[in-house]
Amino acid sequence: MKNSTKIQLGQHGPFVTKLGLGCMRMSSIWGGVTPDETESIATIREALDEGINFLNTGDFYGAGHNEILVGKAIKGRRDEAFISVKFGAIFHNGHWLGMDLRPIAIKNFVNYSLTRLGIDTIDLYQPSRMDDSVPVEDIIGTVADLIKEGKVRHIGVSEITADQLRLANRIYPISALEIGYSLADRQIERELLPTARELGIGVVTFANTAEGLLTGELTAPLAENDYRNHFTRFQGENLLHNLEKVEFLKQLAGQKGCTPTQLAIAWVNRQGDYIMPLVSMSRRSRLPENIAAMDIVFTTEDMNSLNATFAPGAILGGTYLQR
Ligand SMILES: NC(=O)c1ccc[n+]([C@@H]2O[C@H](COP(=O)([O-])OP(=O)(O)OC[C@H]3O[C@@H](n4cnc5c(N)ncnc54)[C@H](OP(=O)(O)O)[C@@H]3O)[C@@H](O)[C@H]2O)c1
Repeated sequence: MKNSTKIQLGQHGPFVTKLGLGCMRMSSIWGGVTPDETESIATIREALDEGINFLNTGDFYGAGHNEILVGKAIKGRRDEAFISVKFGAIFHNGHWLGMDLRPIAIKNFVNYSLTRLGIDTIDLYQPSRMDDSVPVEDIIGTVADLIKEGKVRHIGVSEITADQLRLANRIYPISALEIGYSLADRQIERELLPTARELGIGVVTFANTAEGLLTGELTAPLAENDYRNHFTRFQGENLLHNLEKVEFLKQLAGQKGCTPTQLAIAWVNRQGDYIMPLVSMSRRSRLPENIAAMDIVFTTEDMNSLNATFAPGAILGGTYLQR
């Protein structure tokens, strides 16, 4: 992976690795046990060894736990890591309590994040969502103030509309858009992706495996205690229909000598040089497989059949990515 392809975040923004490491699942977000911390830290360090420098966290991932973990992992290696932090969502014990995007709150959040991460400046700071309680101008304007104060380097946004993206970018140049995107969730291709491209904004995409659907490892029905049972995509007839689609992914993976997960990541990667797959990996054993996915080459026939099988709307039901 070392010296691999880079992606520029924003027209004049920084270059980072085209594969990003999502740290969210190293903490308990939806309740439940915290994954093995030693393994999580080792995964981040091994990713850095491999040259992956983009690390994604949020102050609400485990109510600060995730930032502390990332802080421990990058200790003594600050220059090798590009730290992306989301703020604004309030979670407790696996429950989402709402958003707080008030300027005074943002100015408070950032100090806690810097302390937990053990760094002086956050490379990319982004509201995790917008809401109607605070104007976009105030949210982006506040992060722009943090840049002047030296606490933040670049501004990103997450899960917003094309109109909000244009507005935010008028207030201050936006470096990155973080957004859910996969073979199973292609709604953003209509308006948001073209808008980001037009504005020269890097697109950091998460949920490339669509909550594990595209790993090819799921069987119906899911275990009773599986959190995905809440999403209509994983319920009853929808799940059966969706797993049939995944059979095609498995077949193609078999023909190409790779795994369905690798194809899912590779497909996102091939959507453009301004698009980064941001993949959750909480154990070192994931790294070789997902790094190798970045080198997968598709024939025109591969691409046509993937795009036809997973045409927008082909996967039934949704997840929390309701747009
Ligand atoms: N902005 C937002 O609203 C938002 C929302 C969600 C996530 N994110 C960010 O995006 C990152 C990725 O999102 P995500 O976790 O939803 O999606 P994801 O990358 O598709 O990960 C989903 C699951 O896939 C597993 N996985 C990874 N590599 C695999 C492989 N080779 N084979 C089989 N399974 C594999 C991971 O397991 P392990 O963890 O066990 O390795 C993880 O549980 C997060 O870490 C977070 O930083 C942002």
